[in-house]
Amino acid sequence: MRQTFQVETRPTITEFLLREQRRVPAATGTFTAVVNNVRLACKRIAHVIGQGALSGAGGTAGSQNVQGETQMQLDVLADEIFVRTNEWSGTLAGLVSEEREEPIQIPEEHPRGRYLLVFDPLDGSSNVDVNVSVGSIFSVLRCPDGVTEPRARDFLQPGTRQVAAGYAIYGPTTMLVLTLGRGTHGFTLDRNMGEFILTHPDMTIPASTREFAINASNERFWEPPVRRYVAECIQGKSGTRGADFNMRWIASMVAEVHRILVRGGLFMYPRDTKDPAKPGRLRLMYEANPMSMLVEQAGGAASTGRGRILEVEPTSLHQRVPVILGSREEVARIESYHHDHDAGISPPSAPPLFGERSLFTKA
Ligand code: F6P
Repeated sequence: MRQTFQVETRPTITEFLLREQRRVPAATGTFTAVVNNVRLACKRIAHVIGQGALSGAGGTAGSQNVQGETQMQLDVLADEIFVRTNEWSGTLAGLVSEEREEPIQIPEEHPRGRYLLVFDPLDGSSNVDVNVSVGSIFSVLRCPDGVTEPRARDFLQPGTRQVAAGYAIYGPTTMLVLTLGRGTHGFTLDRNMGEFILTHPDMTIPASTREFAINASNERFWEPPVRRYVAECIQGKSGTRGADFNMRWIASMVAEVHRILVRGGLFMYPRDTKDPAKPGRLRLMYEANPMSMLVEQAGGAASTGRGRILEVEPTSLHQRVPVILGSREEVARIESYHHDHDAGISPPSAPPLFGERSLFTKA
């Protein structure tokens, strides 16, 4: 009798990319090569992160990034890995990194390509030392026609113009989650083979949820619509929502978005008054836009509270934006609370929730 063997039949990411490429008869393979190189950069970063304290790259780098945040040694290393793995390929016209103020030019010795790569090489890096999941986030745009040395303005395209977006999550398993504009798909790194395998095809965010994530320590800085939403969730069964909610906060956007893509939920880093110069915490070009494309492609929604994130016209490379994303019924509810607030319509349950006192203290 013929012996049967268990053979891995799920597609590798290479097979997935080539199948997608074949759907476009005029495709040259350049775009496939862009995503392939990003994949390699993520594998290299996963290797370093996986070594933890053994890598010798822990702790702070003794410098600040363009946002004035303390850079970790791993931020600098991950940035270097992303740039070195992608700049030589001939597929890119330029790159933008969270860690650098200006766009990165392709060195003279390498050919130029038609795509722009925007990335956050290591998001949530303050979590690395405590062994909590972190990730890399990326967005691929087309370089405007006729431009060979892209400047900042060439990158300032709304999120609707992204041709691909994704993140790698470095957690108990390393995964790459990707959209090329036809659904959101998750690939798990098989460490023995060194290849990502399609394990989560067509990730779908349920329309409703009973789980939300927000940094509640900022409550006093939130706008009334967000205070209203969170207050109603916390009231649970006895409040207007008539249901109990769970709250989560990992302080690592990649881990929060991953949870939402796997089981639904809502993530908020809304506009607040903590620093009036900043309309939000998260960066539009390499955090909010790629995550919004992934979430929308999975059937969810992503909003500033006052409009679709993907339609925000960027004005600067490192600009910040309020972010509310996840299950679409909850996003729509918060948008309606913003609308009511801006139109001067008081919620039925207004007093005393809208007073100055904390939502977390009894009157
Ligand atoms: O932007 C970096 C980041 O670490 C995100 O990944 C995360 O959602 C957020 O900042 C955490 O912010 P906070 O420190 O206010 O909780």
